[in-house]
Amino acid sequence: MTSLFSTVQIGRYTLANRMVMAPMTRSRADDAGVPSDLVATYYAQRSSAGLIITEGVFPSALGKGYVRTPGIETDEQIAAWKQVTEAVHAKGGRIFMQLMHCGRVSHPSLLPEGAQPQAPSAIKAAGQTWTATGLHDFVTPHAMSVAEIAAVIEDYRGAARRAIEAGFDGVELHTASGYLPEQFLSTGSNQRDDQYGGSVENRARFVLDVLAAMVQEVGGDRVGIKISPEMNFNDISDANPQETYTYLVGQLSGLNLAYLHVALFGAKVDYHAVLRPLFNGAYLVGGGLNKEAAQALLSEGRADAAVFGSTFLANPDLPERFKLDAGLNTPNKDTFYSPGAEGYIDYPTVQGA
Ligand SMILES: Cc1cc2nc3c(=O)[nH]c(=O)nc-3n(C[C@H](O)[C@H](O)[C@H](O)COP(=O)(O)O)c2cc1C
Repeated sequence: MTSLFSTVQIGRYTLANRMVMAPMTRSRADDAGVPSDLVATYYAQRSSAGLIITEGVFPSALGKGYVRTPGIETDEQIAAWKQVTEAVHAKGGRIFMQLMHCGRVSHPSLLPEGAQPQAPSAIKAAGQTWTATGLHDFVTPHAMSVAEIAAVIEDYRGAARRAIEAGFDGVELHTASGYLPEQFLSTGSNQRDDQYGGSVENRARFVLDVLAAMVQEVGGDRVGIKISPEMNFNDISDANPQETYTYLVGQLSGLNLAYLHVALFGAKVDYHAVLRPLFNGAYLVGGGLNKEAAQALLSEGRADAAVFGSTFLANPDLPERFKLDAGLNTPNKDTFYSPGAEGYIDYPTVQGA
């Protein structure tokens, strides 16, 4: 029986266990996208995870979509992230950076002077985002030209290179939650009639081009991808998600990626059964897992590793707690995105409780 506590090969790394910390935006950066000093402490506290995946990080300033989120573009940002990777590595952990370009679900006030949110098509999403002055409605985005698409692909390539420069073990492409890559994939947000829109082959092209650039830059064994079919967050919708994701995942094996991370939230299709056989790297499953559900997935051979979000947020020593069958701290939603240490680095360990 495969245990949560056994080692697992993911890309070029042998992880100490199969418990992965999910990417979670925590909004502890400054207005220049530089992570605060608290960030190194927060991730180092969670370094007993087999793998940490960071919060979504914007590859370039045009990708920022929430106030106080971090970037991986400037020298200051790279220097701050170096402290994070050094702190995690000093405690024996592994850490990938998640690259998140928000596309149309951003707001002009979060972007460089005069810039509009970018998207495959000029279709406004229903909903709002957090800016420096509170919640604001999404705006009608700027439909990207082919040259602008090429520039964003280069932004991702550069971000992957800078992440490795900052000491990260790898990078994950955020292709879920209604952000730019999923905006290209999905029929509700992509009505282009060029090589980046229309057929499923064309809608998947942006994601595959971005991944190819990242792989070329840092190697497939240091690149992962996250998808959440049918999550429908940020007003994303697709006419035939099963066809879209079957095609996309079928194309990934040629890239020899480290992992495919699939987080499901009430999808009607059993995507794990559909997608896992199509993929040749490690298969990571997330979304609402507890210890028992995660162990069952591994025992039944349905996943190679289990991804925990809010449970890891609230329990820095989650593997230790699982080992001891100890009680768990409850996540405090009020401090998920608030600035400062409270609800960030002050969750007690089982030893300290
Ligand atoms: C506070 C918070 C922030 C999140 N931010 C991100 C993010 O930046 N990128 C991402 O891919 N998912 C994000 N998620 C989703 C998680 O990665 C994960 O898929 C989700 O929480 C489900 O896992 P769970 O039920 O174990 O919490 C976030 C979740 C939470 C709770």
